[in-house]
Amino acid sequence: MKKPILELKGITKEYGAGKSRFKALDGVSLRINEGEFVSITGPSGSGKSTLLHFLGFLDKPTSGDACIGGVAMTEMNEDGLADARNEKIGFVFQAFNLAPTLTVGRNVELPLTIGGMGRKERRKRADGLLSAVGLLEKRNSLPSQLSGGEKQRVAIARALANNPKIILADEPTGNLDSKSGKEVLDILYGLWERDGKTIVIITHEPVVAAYAERTIRIRDGKIEGDVRQKPRKAGEDEIKVKR
Ligand SMILES: Nc1ncnc2c1ncn2[C@@H]1O[C@H](COP(=O)(O)OP(=O)(O)O)[C@@H](O)[C@H]1O
Ligand SMILES: [Mg+2]
Repeated sequence: MKKPILELKGITKEYGAGKSRFKALDGVSLRINEGEFVSITGPSGSGKSTLLHFLGFLDKPTSGDACIGGVAMTEMNEDGLADARNEKIGFVFQAFNLAPTLTVGRNVELPLTIGGMGRKERRKRADGLLSAVGLLEKRNSLPSQLSGGEKQRVAIARALANNPKIILADEPTGNLDSKSGKEVLDILYGLWERDGKTIVIITHEPVVAAYAERTIRIRDGKIEGDVRQKPRKAGEDEIKVKR
């Protein structure tokens, strides 16, 4: 039996006040099972990033609740929420969000520093993660010395530091050319297929959404579609358009 790992129950999020009050999400319920690879797609402004904030416990909804492993957000205190974010979930963002003054190695170590791991062990773990994304030789470089694709691979290594079961990625290929975008997607695909991670990826590009085994489409803050599909295998060439 598949176990639900993330659940949203009737999430509504309103921004602003008075006349400018605006519903970014309108009663969204969904369930993601352990080990699923899900893409969330929809036009710009449809509420994708807002939705990901609730899957990652980064924000409190106006109404509704979010659960991780069956535990409701409304039942967690601040420490519980911080632990869920730091240990159970790895985040990857479009703009990479690396600390610019820290070396690549230190960036990957950061979540471990927060978790209180000793220096030697931290470095060993960071080196292993950097090797896994093919960037060990860059461990002493600064983020500004890397290409976009390399930065995103470092961000993935950092997201994996605490060995989370879940990776949430918001437009991870949005700032990348298609070749480095594909490298990033291949890594995420491997984390799902080989390591059994639960992956949620936000994208407005159908080619990217096709990597997942399920696509949730949102529009105007509501779920408009939720379909299962055969994931496009990583490493395959572009799907040929039928004439
Ligand atoms: N902090 C905020 N304050 C006010 N409005 C916001 C805020 N964040 C997002 N919005 C609005 O909510 C809607 C959904 O935003 P978002 O979730 O970022 O969409 P997407 O990621 O699909 O492009 C947009 O209209 C956006 O302008
Ligand atoms: Mg967005």
